Amino acid sequence: MLPTRLHVVFRLHVSLLVALVMADSLTSTDSTGAQCHHLGESPSGVVLVLKGETAWVPCPLLNNDSSSRDPAWSRLLRGEELPMAYSQRLRKERHGLLFQPVEDQDTAGYVCRLRHGSPCPKMAVHVLVVRTAPPSLECDSPVTPEPVTATVPLQGDAVLDCPSHRDVAGISDEAPDVAWYHECRPADRWTSDREQDGARLRIHFMAEHYQGLYLCRVRFRKRGRELYFVGAVNVNAVSPPPMPKHPVILLPAADQVVSVPPSSDVNLTCRGIFPYLESDWDIWWSVDGETPERSDRSRFSVRNSQVSSKHGDRVEESILLIRDFAAEDLRKAFNCSVRNGRGFQTRRVGLALEERAPTLALACGLSASLALSLLLLVILRLFRLELLLLYRSRFASDERHAGDKEFDVYVSYARNSEEEKFVLETLRPVLENQLGYTVCIFDRDSLPGGTVTDETLRFVARSRRLLVVPGPGYGRRGTRALLELKAGVDGLASGHLRLVLVHRERARRQEWARELRRAGAALDVLRWRGERSRDLTSRFWKEMRLALPVGRTPGCPREAGLKGRGQLLV
Ligand SMILES: *[C@@H]1O[C@H](CO)[C@@H](O)[C@H](O)[C@H]1NC(C)=O
Ligand SMILES: *[C@@H]1O[C@H](CO)[C@@H](O)[C@H](O)[C@H]1NC(C)=O
Ligand SMILES: *[C@@H]1O[C@H](CO)[C@@H](O)[C@H](O)[C@H]1NC(C)=O
Repeated sequence: MLPTRLHVVFRLHVSLLVALVMADSLTSTDSTGAQCHHLGESPSGVVLVLKGETAWVPCPLLNNDSSSRDPAWSRLLRGEELPMAYSQRLRKERHGLLFQPVEDQDTAGYVCRLRHGSPCPKMAVHVLVVRTAPPSLECDSPVTPEPVTATVPLQGDAVLDCPSHRDVAGISDEAPDVAWYHECRPADRWTSDREQDGARLRIHFMAEHYQGLYLCRVRFRKRGRELYFVGAVNVNAVSPPPMPKHPVILLPAADQVVSVPPSSDVNLTCRGIFPYLESDWDIWWSVDGETPERSDRSRFSVRNSQVSSKHGDRVEESILLIRDFAAEDLRKAFNCSVRNGRGFQTRRVGLALEERAPTLALACGLSASLALSLLLLVILRLFRLELLLLYRSRFASDERHAGDKEFDVYVSYARNSEEEKFVLETLRPVLENQLGYTVCIFDRDSLPGGTVTDETLRFVARSRRLLVVPGPGYGRRGTRALLELKAGVDGLASGHLRLVLVHRERARRQEWARELRRAGAALDVLRWRGERSRDLTSRFWKEMRLALPVGRTPGCPREAGLKGRGQLLV
């Protein structure tokens, strides 16, 4: 038995196309995965139900005989089957759906299927909510049924139908009356770019501000009764068609080389632009031609997201996260690919291991230069004397050409002592014979006769250096050594002479003769270290050469020495 308050308004025996046609094949897979044999639309076509009333819509697959069977229902939305949201108001009743009462949003397609039997048959029935009073399309209380979506290219044109208008046109007593609205403005107040043409909406030149929700109110008569319903179309502008429509990879750039720090996590970004097309699109990463997850599920993962979308043109991104990037990954081909109905593009991203951190390089450089400086210091310390000698030999001027000195060295020593032996047997031969200096040793070089004092002063004055070899008794009052020393200190004071002190023993400053202490810091002090100083390459002789005038080359000494003495002797 049908419910007593049931008002199934009209069963329409028309075989017209219902707006929500399931365009795909006759068989489709239902939500449970079972193959169902789709029998198309209900032969009764659209089912009109009155808003605010109770309505029972039976499954068109079943009749009263099989009314004990319990079909499964789903709701069609833009060609997609969604699960039914049952409620107190909308529930199953025997082999039909019971709307109690009917509301605007019930306008939809409903699919019923028989759960048993293979293949399970299913069939769609289109329910259209109508009303007897003219609906208000005012902005404060608009009637907004589920809209259908239409895309119109910018600057393009389009003709739009009012949803369900055709359904009722076939059953209406006379041609239905349609009125279009956009944002509460009726079509007669639109500009000439858009107009209502009969029952349809015609857009001559699409612009961005023509987007939005369009409502169409349909008035028709059925068996003398005046009925109304509202259709809704959501119009979106899309970029115009003459553009190239193939997808383009924005990132990675063509010659881009991504430098990756070793043993770290790396994100590779693939970004593509997909111009508006009514076809599918895809963006993906591949590793050596395989999906990253298949290549190495534990280290590769992918995250996709939309970057932007305007007029149907979309920028999409796919990020490949590589955990623990290894050197072997450099050999893999990481390709970013994009595809849509018009084209395909793929690009391999260039990878390079990142150089060591610049701070490290800097530190290396710094320590290298520090090490170099230290090395130089060590070299300077070790070879200071050699370097000074080298420098002197190259750049210092030859003192022999300056002034009217006859002797390079005047040797002053305590007579009758160890020092005398040292001077005559050790210092003199080397200075004269090997280093080539002209040496004045008073006792040997002075001529007999004349005043010793005058002679001493004269010889010291004609020497470039006074070499002092102090010893016990040196500088004692009344000795010639003291006279020589005084003359030397005077010459030092007037800048004519330099004093060189040679110690044979470690002598303390306090023990120096008063005159030596007076000369103080102006002295070159050399120390004779016994056997170690005998060799010409020893420190003692290098220091000696530094202290004595420049210009004598060891190796060709004899003539120079003899010449000096010869001059003196002449
Ligand atoms: C089904 O039964 C109801 C009453 O029980 C009756 O009014 C209706 O005409 C029947 N429909 C068919 C198709 O037999
Ligand atoms: C990579 O992307 C993920 C997700 O956005 C983020 O959590 C992670 O920090 C990124 N890693 C690197 C190294 O940029
Ligand atoms: C990867 O991209 C390059 C072009 O950059 C292409 O030559 C190569 O065939 C692509 N490899 C795969 C597996 O798609």
